[in-house]
Amino acid sequence: MRKNIVAGNWKMNNDLKATKKLVKQIRKSIKKAELNNTRVIIAPTFVNLSAAVKRSKKSKIEVAAQNMHQANNGAFTGEISAEMLKGVGVKTVILGHSERRAYFGETDAILAEKVNAALANKLEIIFCFGEELADRKAGNEEAVVESQIKNALFHLEADAFKNIVLAYEPVWAIGTGETASPEQAQDMHSFIRKTLADKYGNNVSDNVSILYGGSVKPANAQEIFSKPDVDGGLIGGAALKAEDFYSIITAF
Ligand code: 13P
Repeated sequence: MRKNIVAGNWKMNNDLKATKKLVKQIRKSIKKAELNNTRVIIAPTFVNLSAAVKRSKKSKIEVAAQNMHQANNGAFTGEISAEMLKGVGVKTVILGHSERRAYFGETDAILAEKVNAALANKLEIIFCFGEELADRKAGNEEAVVESQIKNALFHLEADAFKNIVLAYEPVWAIGTGETASPEQAQDMHSFIRKTLADKYGNNVSDNVSILYGGSVKPANAQEIFSKPDVDGGLIGGAALKAEDFYSIITAF
């Protein structure tokens, strides 16, 4: 079943103290809120996952990691595995964020391995992809998105999509204040669903949640989320302020 999801990607923000404070504020704000079938996910940095999990217990907040390594363990200095995430109570991991692709050399091939490792360890995946400005200017946005999805996910069986959430994040809209228009988001989400339907059939494409990310704010969330193929958002900057995040969560 498709679910509405609002996920906050905290990126490299919030130390331990700020993490505890923000979790507490979000927890308090959503306690009595009518969430209308909306899942609330936060993704703090690795070092603060444990604290966030602890402080989210018995609340509707779910805690995700922002990345993981594809191996289960071994000589990979500085890396974190799926097993380790599970060990601290994390059930979801963001993979393929454009910042990982651009600054840390994550290719489609590496992402396919990470996807396999996450699923093998029963972690849910929020899989990110999206075109750059030059791609959109050249009219190549659909081709780029299609290849990102195919290369990292299309080796999977249909069943795997029960544990995958897709997040379309056009790179030109991330942290820029420039949002895709609700129509641009809807057009791309509908294209993504069709791409999935062609390969796996309607049962998969109708049931996968597709989030939009890129400068979602309280002021634009409602209009974007009202589009039929948009099932929520992956939020960066606005997820760092409890009031803004709450407004977005309750925008459905
Ligand atoms: P902003 O909401 O800050 O544009 O970031 C979006 C994003 O990258 C979420 O993963």
